[in-house]
Amino acid sequence: MNPGKALISPAWRLAERAPLRARNTFGVQAHADLLLEVRDAAALPELFTNAALRDGPVLVLGGGSNLLFAADPPGVVLSPCGQDIRILDDGRGSNDDTVLVRAEAGVEWHAFVLWTLGHGLAGLENLALIPGTVGAAPIQNIGAYGVEAGERIHAVEAFDRNTGAIVKLSGADCGFAYRDSRFKREPGRWIITAVTFQLSRSADLRLGYAGITEALAQTGITTPTASQVAEAVCRVRRSKLPDPAVLGNAGSFFKNPIVAADLAAQLRQAEPQLPVFPGADDHSRKLSAAWLIDACGWKGHREGDAGVSDAHALVLVNHGQATGAQLLALARRIAASVSERFGVMLEPEPRVIGADW
Ligand code: FAD
Ligand code: EPU
Repeated sequence: MNPGKALISPAWRLAERAPLRARNTFGVQAHADLLLEVRDAAALPELFTNAALRDGPVLVLGGGSNLLFAADPPGVVLSPCGQDIRILDDGRGSNDDTVLVRAEAGVEWHAFVLWTLGHGLAGLENLALIPGTVGAAPIQNIGAYGVEAGERIHAVEAFDRNTGAIVKLSGADCGFAYRDSRFKREPGRWIITAVTFQLSRSADLRLGYAGITEALAQTGITTPTASQVAEAVCRVRRSKLPDPAVLGNAGSFFKNPIVAADLAAQLRQAEPQLPVFPGADDHSRKLSAAWLIDACGWKGHREGDAGVSDAHALVLVNHGQATGAQLLALARRIAASVSERFGVMLEPEPRVIGADW
């Protein structure tokens, strides 16, 4: 990879001073000094013998739907672009009906969900319409409507910058938790190149999450197919979350805070409306960040072009020309007000580039 000699190969494409506004769903302006799009993951070991990649900062960029550019990213921005989807094992020779499907990192997530449903495979229907790429799904273990991607991940293939090799990690090796994974806890180390999912021909549907059964009932469906669940999820999501194509945003800006069960009980006594959900164990509870922010009066708030959605208090929005720094400043003020009133610390869900939280 010598920009002086060649900028395009069959496996990758390198661009200088690339604008990133169309590559992040907040729609904030930023530039990459070097943008490297990698179509063939097998090229990564050789590419990373180049000093700029081996020793310098590298930001892996998927669909840009879970990051905030508070400044230009330093170093190289690397975008995995592989588009292959294939069935590795159709399950017909085994006793259970598990089907293994492998998708490369650059495949758009929602298109992949539709592909699996179109092939009669259930398992990802609750995760329909989440923006972004397959390669980013394991990073924060995307979740919605009672399902987390980690539950369906059989294996992750990733380039390990520590060793310079592509390795295959089992789902159990990925350390998945709520909006968390090994990849997130080891920042800068991994470039995910492909993910294999374990899906099923027989739909064991999860319909418990508030709103889904109701959305199905509204259309008279009592025993839905996986595709009908996905359609209901899409309807609920469209009614709650602003479309980034219309109004820049990155979905939930804060994670729902996990607190000690005692603190949750105290808060609930003072605020009986506060939604409290089970945590990972008996001693912890998950609170609703949206409710806490809403209670502090931020819903629909706007400062210039940086604001909070009037449809959902957890979603920061860019009304047009907001900078990443302005959105970050607003997010900090929101978190400070929640901390002051409730003693609960909010943490951002999107990765903040170019500034510390
Ligand atoms: P990016 O934003 O490009 O990157 C996110 C992080 O992953 C960065 O740290 C980046 O470096 C890293 N990364 C990306 N690709 C790779 C790779 N191949 N290898 C290594 N690191 C990588 N999330 C949910 O969990 N549930 C939801 O319901 C949900 N709803 C959303 C709704 C809206 C309207 C929006 C805008 C976002 C929503 N999100 C949700 C957040 C977001 O869609 C997901 O986190 C998604 O997985 C991000 O994918 P991406 O390709 O855009 O990643
Ligand atoms: N609420 C308010 N005010 C609002 C919005 C919501 O008080 O403006 C309260 C309501 O009481 C509601 C509760 O918050 O019952 C929870 O709201 P919602 O069901 O919309 O879920 P959420 O906790 O805000 C989480 C995820 C979403 C995911 C949905 C559905 C996080 C940080 N967010 O949102 O993921 O789609 O559940 O499963 O866990 C994302 O990560 O970007 C994202 C959108």
